[in-house]
Amino acid sequence: MTDPLLLCFEDECAAARRLAAAGRWALTTVERHRFPDGELKLRLPEVLPEQVVVYRGLHQPNEKLVELLLVARAARQAGVAHLCLVSPYLGYMRQDMAFRPGEVVSQRIVGGFLADLFDAVITVDPHLHRVATLAEAVPVAQPVVLSGAPALADWIAQQRPGALLLGPDEESAQWVAQAARRHGNDSAVCRKVRDGDRSVRIELPDRAWAGRQVVILDDMASTGHTVAQATRLLRQAGAASVDVAVTHALFAGDALEVLQAAGVGAVWSTDCIPHPSNVVSMSDALAAAVQGVLAVSPVPMIPPA
Ligand code: R5P
Repeated sequence: MTDPLLLCFEDECAAARRLAAAGRWALTTVERHRFPDGELKLRLPEVLPEQVVVYRGLHQPNEKLVELLLVARAARQAGVAHLCLVSPYLGYMRQDMAFRPGEVVSQRIVGGFLADLFDAVITVDPHLHRVATLAEAVPVAQPVVLSGAPALADWIAQQRPGALLLGPDEESAQWVAQAARRHGNDSAVCRKVRDGDRSVRIELPDRAWAGRQVVILDDMASTGHTVAQATRLLRQAGAASVDVAVTHALFAGDALEVLQAAGVGAVWSTDCIPHPSNVVSMSDALAAAVQGVLAVSPVPMIPPA
């Protein structure tokens, strides 16, 4: 069997290169041309191996879903037997139920779409609040979920030893508990009610906040209002510092300004979404997951010269 090939797109080359280096795979960028009318033309290598891994994060997902459709169908036509998608951030996972009659449950539809195209989907901290497993949302043969919490916990332990880890809502309890266990941090979780895209009400848990170093830990920050509101309450309660660590640095629009105005100190994230706040890389964990689904042994280390 020939070696697997990793495919990426120009805007995510840096992260894909880190993954290729960690897995010792060849990496090729999909050629992409945009016609004047907005349509896309993609070009893959003329010959593809039996196993192909596509690296595509699904932040700003709409056009990328079309790219994945074109790439996956073309790869199958070219004879690819096993297609794996590495999507460190999986978009459309938050619309997991119809809150009003007629609302489209995007999670199931996008999940089904990806499962039709790929044999394996590897992702990090997907937003699965009302379903228990990735397989329910993306019914693919090989679903793999990794977490950014351990790597963020290690970073926080170096930067703010002894900090209290705070989850801004009940859903974040899973990541906060995991991170706190790793280094023995104190931890707590807030209650949150969302009134709109940019409007949340948060209730801090009952703790002695005065003088404490607090790190807010969550799967993602989008508009930043969840973290900003928690930060304002912590500052009012006398916290000595409030920093933020998230797996997915969506930071839409003026989110960073919103955080700064609320009194957030440092903003840290994994490299699942390319962003200036990236401080920890998921590439080794992703490479191990890819090796697992491809069922290939790691390539032997090259001995030092
Ligand atoms: C929601 O459950 C997520 O874990 C985040 O808390 C949420 O998506 C953050 O959104 P925003 O930054 O727009 O408040």
